[in-house]
Amino acid sequence: MPECRDRIGHSMPAIYFDHNATTPLDPRVRAVMEPWLGEQYGNPASLHAFGQAARDATEVAREQLASLLGARPAELVFTASGTEANNAVLLGRSWEGNLEGHLVVSAIEHPSVWKAALALQDAGMEVSWVEPDGQGRMVAAEVLAEVRDDTKLVCLMLANNEVGTLQPVEAVGRDCRERGVPVLCDAVQAIGKVPVSTANLNVDYLTVGAHKFYGPLGAAALWVRKGVKYEPFLKGGSQERQRRAGTVNVPAVVGLGEAARLAADELGQRGPRMKELRERFETGLQAIDNVVVHGRDAERLPNTSHVALVGADSESLLIRLDLAGFAVSSGSACSSGTVEPSRTLRAMRVPEEEAACSLRISFGHGNTEQEVDAFLDALSHEVTELRRLSSRQ
Ligand SMILES: Cc1ncc(COP(=O)(O)O)c(C=O)c1O
Repeated sequence: MPECRDRIGHSMPAIYFDHNATTPLDPRVRAVMEPWLGEQYGNPASLHAFGQAARDATEVAREQLASLLGARPAELVFTASGTEANNAVLLGRSWEGNLEGHLVVSAIEHPSVWKAALALQDAGMEVSWVEPDGQGRMVAAEVLAEVRDDTKLVCLMLANNEVGTLQPVEAVGRDCRERGVPVLCDAVQAIGKVPVSTANLNVDYLTVGAHKFYGPLGAAALWVRKGVKYEPFLKGGSQERQRRAGTVNVPAVVGLGEAARLAADELGQRGPRMKELRERFETGLQAIDNVVVHGRDAERLPNTSHVALVGADSESLLIRLDLAGFAVSSGSACSSGTVEPSRTLRAMRVPEEEAACSLRISFGHGNTEQEVDAFLDALSHEVTELRRLSSRQ
């Protein structure tokens, strides 16, 4: 566990507020994975007892995830990441075998969707990029207005990874289904934070990533609604009912299953708990002047707060907070480390100077009120310092 020093030099464990980037592994998940990292092993495709035990373990995980999602186990394809699952739909071209036609893609998708769509656009497909409103919400009617007779796929995430806004997937899915247009829903950020049911969403493909809900890295899944066309993206062996070549990562998948089981059992407590912490934080923030909470008026994930601390450059603030013992993100996890303005904030038309001062704070149900209060104290101090330094320049 990383450590740091407080302002009077005491050593303390660093505090983690970056759960949208990844979550810690739940010790109960780790406990069920551990045998599969040691004495238990086997390739689920092997016919002998070792293989069959591994196969049974992955099938239990499939049932656990199916139960969380209200899906049939056979509709789930295990993948190595959410990125792979999203790419598998767009670049595996399950929806169409040629590169003609049209896609509708929201402008606030994760790079694993929008960069794949961009690659298809470069290869000759037409893409309609639909912008959100100023709160980071896609408007269902605006998405649907772009759907045409030659539309092959609509991509709309369930919850945005940066601002946390929830999107009108159910309404878009309903209309698309009537028109026979398949929908890909990236639910990676929503699962474990809000209820997600494949029975209600009216979508055809849905993506899941275990490391966002206290499961391990390297385990994710793509749900493909029964009867919907699916072309394997990775070609090779006949694993996953010929849908995803490559030996299944048994320990990680076992962990994914247990994480899904725990999320299903505990969602009712986790959601309100994270919301309490987020509300405490946003209430405390009012003591700092010139703060904007992005998406404040929208329905959001209970754990995510995306704020601009105007006049305090976010890269400098992030580093100062890190040194003070607080892990947050400036923009989305996958773009942290780069200083490009956030694509989502640009699409929301957040002014550049505000976007450059934005932080994402994403709480977990394991955080405490004391941690939130300590963070508010440090944030106020560092923002005041940075504003003072920048007013001198
Ligand atoms: C909304 C969303 N989709 C997809 C991904 C990619 O998931 P993975 O890290 O498993 O590739 C992320 C990761 O941050 C995400 O937030």
